[in-house]
Amino acid sequence: MAEQKSDNITWHSGQIDRNDRERLVGQRGVTVWLTGLSGSGKSTVAVAAEAELTRRGHLSYVLDGDNVRHGLNSNLGFSPEDRTENIRRIGEVSKLFTEAGVIVFTSFISPYRADRDAVRELMPKGDFVEVFVDASLETCEGRDVKGLYKKARAGEIPEFTGISAPYEAPAKPELVVDTGNQSIQQSVEQVVDHLEKKGYLSAPAAE
Ligand code: ADX
Repeated sequence: MAEQKSDNITWHSGQIDRNDRERLVGQRGVTVWLTGLSGSGKSTVAVAAEAELTRRGHLSYVLDGDNVRHGLNSNLGFSPEDRTENIRRIGEVSKLFTEAGVIVFTSFISPYRADRDAVRELMPKGDFVEVFVDASLETCEGRDVKGLYKKARAGEIPEFTGISAPYEAPAKPELVVDTGNQSIQQSVEQVVDHLEKKGYLSAPAAE
């Protein structure tokens, strides 16, 4: 937990609770946390899943590493400390979206197991679904969509995940999508089926 610097602050509750909001949108809020190497397909799966859920009448939203680093986290780099802070902030943002009843897809390398586990701990059980987007380094480097692996191999990008910085695969993710060996559509189906099977695509019953 980050240090609390402010005193004299009080938590205010609203008149509407989470169940009310979830009934309004006909689904349960959840954070679907995609983790994997750069180029593994996290963002591609996330945006395609968002589109599929939208077609089915659900409200979802993608938080993406490259995008968030342009704004909220523009002051962070790729040192272990900065990555930890990157993930901590995204965890807090995801928690707020989840409480608002949104199906959130996060697309961050999030290479450290402890950082991902800390986000899981932040939320009530069931709100955090960890998805390992599994493609080998060889596959990701072979794709090299952004040309970054080539630069990293040439020593032009320090602390590049998979090359000169670690990636710790999840020990017990809720889901593994094998993007190295299956189509994006198959991975999206896997994710959406999981959400459906676990009841996230239905509103909570009226009290
Ligand atoms: S994380 O490690 O802190 O979770 P994040 O997902 O936000 O990373 O950002 C990763 C993206 O930043 C990569 O997809 C890549 O485009 C870019 N990037 C730039 N430098 C690095 C680096 N040193 N290591 C990994 N990704 C980098």
